[in-house]
Amino acid sequence: MTNYNGLRREHLGFFPTPVHKLERLSKQLGVNLYLKRDDLTGPNLFGGNKIRKLEFLLGDALNQGADTVITFGATQSNHAMETAVAARRLGLTPLLYLETITPPDQTEDRGNILIDKILGAQIEYVSMDGRTEAEADAFAMEQAIAKKAELEAAGHKVYIIPVGGATPIGSVGFAVGVDELLGQLNELNVHADYIVHGRGTGGTAAGLVAGTKLYGGSNAPKVLSINVSPKPIEHYDKTARLATDALRLLGSNQTVTRADFNFDQSYFGEGYEIPTASATAAIRLLAETEGILLDPVYTGKGFAGMLDYIKTGKIAPGSNVVFWHTGGISALFAESAIVGKLY
Ligand SMILES: Cc1ncc(COP(=O)(O)O)c(C=O)c1O
Repeated sequence: MTNYNGLRREHLGFFPTPVHKLERLSKQLGVNLYLKRDDLTGPNLFGGNKIRKLEFLLGDALNQGADTVITFGATQSNHAMETAVAARRLGLTPLLYLETITPPDQTEDRGNILIDKILGAQIEYVSMDGRTEAEADAFAMEQAIAKKAELEAAGHKVYIIPVGGATPIGSVGFAVGVDELLGQLNELNVHADYIVHGRGTGGTAAGLVAGTKLYGGSNAPKVLSINVSPKPIEHYDKTARLATDALRLLGSNQTVTRADFNFDQSYFGEGYEIPTASATAAIRLLAETEGILLDPVYTGKGFAGMLDYIKTGKIAPGSNVVFWHTGGISALFAESAIVGKLY
């Protein structure tokens, strides 16, 4: 455990994660393409971006004396799985509310559900029952609040983490990650024009934008967020507030507004967890040129968006581009409705 600007940070992952150039793919695409390897955050094989958030979130949970952590996600949620991993690492009990956006395999546990069960996480399934994602989130939160009251009446202390770990404290983890990346690029003598990533709840984007404001100076890389699901415009105001609040926690009085986000909603296809032809092609391309894996739900769609920006010149030839690999590889072993046809 360390103290970061007054915030408690538990050391859960292996940081700094590597950053390296994709030589073969760069030549093919006509840009200098780097990969920030948060698929390798640890603490086990299936890491991912949530570990950065959880170092600060669970630091806060421990500060508050929690013994139990509740969080939310889809049944194949990486965030829920990583929360269960991190909770176990710190001696906390994980309880997961999982929304059945894609119905889980009835015959065998697959992907993250399998890992959740190996970790002994308590799982409550939240049926979609004709609810929208936002309605299901609200319904799951109601149940979690009731569960918290019940557990606390029995003497426990419960810490609730919203879906995706999208809180100011969680986003601090990614702002600090930008500092880490810029230091690494500095050593490589590279100035990044773009940081590109797949965007879900917006907590990562909030942290990246806060981090580029705080540590990037006037020539900071532009953060390009490729959405993996549709979001209403209020979502961007909410995540701008997240970013601003993360900056406050880091002692900065700068403000982030919706205009600071560069987001693109054209690459998620029919929706969350539904495979797209362009993501499938992107996964194959990176695998066949560099031997590196992406996932179909987040990084595949994010990478596909980036490839299209490069192909159409929205990202100019010769640019220095960092794709932030946020993990999610366990989705390759999820239900075939999520994986699609990769070969
Ligand atoms: C692999 C992966 N990439 C990207 C994201 C998106 O992060 P955020 O929800 O912070 O936007 C997630 C979120 O679950 C994820 O699991």
